[in-house]
Amino acid sequence: MIEQLRPRVQQIADELLEAVQAQGRMDLIVDFAFPLPITVISEMLGIPAKDRQQFRVWSQTIVNVPMEPQMEDKLAALEMFVQYIKTLLADKSAHPGSDLTSGLVQAEERGDSLNEAELISTIFLLIVAGHETTVNLIGNGMLALLEHPEQMRLLRADPSLLPSAIEELLRYTAPVSLSSPRWASEDIPMHGQVIRKGEMVFASLIAADTDPQQFPDPEVLDILRQENQHVAFGKGIHYCLFPSSLARPSRSSSPSTSDRSGDSSGDIMRR
Ligand code: HEM
Repeated sequence: MIEQLRPRVQQIADELLEAVQAQGRMDLIVDFAFPLPITVISEMLGIPAKDRQQFRVWSQTIVNVPMEPQMEDKLAALEMFVQYIKTLLADKSAHPGSDLTSGLVQAEERGDSLNEAELISTIFLLIVAGHETTVNLIGNGMLALLEHPEQMRLLRADPSLLPSAIEELLRYTAPVSLSSPRWASEDIPMHGQVIRKGEMVFASLIAADTDPQQFPDPEVLDILRQENQHVAFGKGIHYCLFPSSLARPSRSSSPSTSDRSGDSSGDIMRR
């Protein structure tokens, strides 16, 4: 299913760039990095086109870390969002389509797996897991290239380097720096310490991906890096099955997105 999304993802990316091309400048986050994943996710979930703008606003509210005074707004948005998802589930149950939500609803109706609360949290998980990670990779990846103009030049001169550049940007920028929590199922001695059975553990993916025993000169951004067995998508049973093939450009994919900008080294405004 994921691989089938590739042409549509390319099309959405092209449309977003076309929309700003005439201006000759863009806000990478607002104009591209935010709308790209949420548009893909909402299409995947079968959110009707008329609701997508609202869906985007809600999802953005959910993934943004709230400032204290905005907490109430966030809770109100969450409530409306849950209500919306419940209506969507009822709608997909009455009129199933070929989208993921319909598939999940049908599985629930067959008694296969998920109840309503689990369905809602699965949709939440997709939004949260899929959104910020992608925004981080695009935003910090572009920043890393702008800060390393020699790497940017290499890539622009030879777009076939894109697959290895993306692996390196995943390693170097660590879009997800810590794993979700795990709990030790037994006492684990490690480097002179013992992690006791039942204790909560987070794996630091960013530490693993800058481990000098694994990566020579780990602090160096090197899009030609040969051995690059990073853990930016995690490892083991919680490995991010979902997007890894999408985040990685196929060798045959059109380089149109990377081709488009004339000179991307212009003014950079950080936030
Ligand atoms: C650059 C983009 C992405 C990166 C770097 C990334 C990274 C990760 C990592 C490190 C994990 C494992 C976390 C852990 O072990 O605790 C994970 C899990 C997951 N990711 Fe991604 N992710 C990305 C994009 C996405 C997208 C676009 C989606 C969905 C639309 C997605 C859905 C998920 C889900 C559902 C899980 C949980 C899998 C499980 O617990 O079994 N991710 N991701």
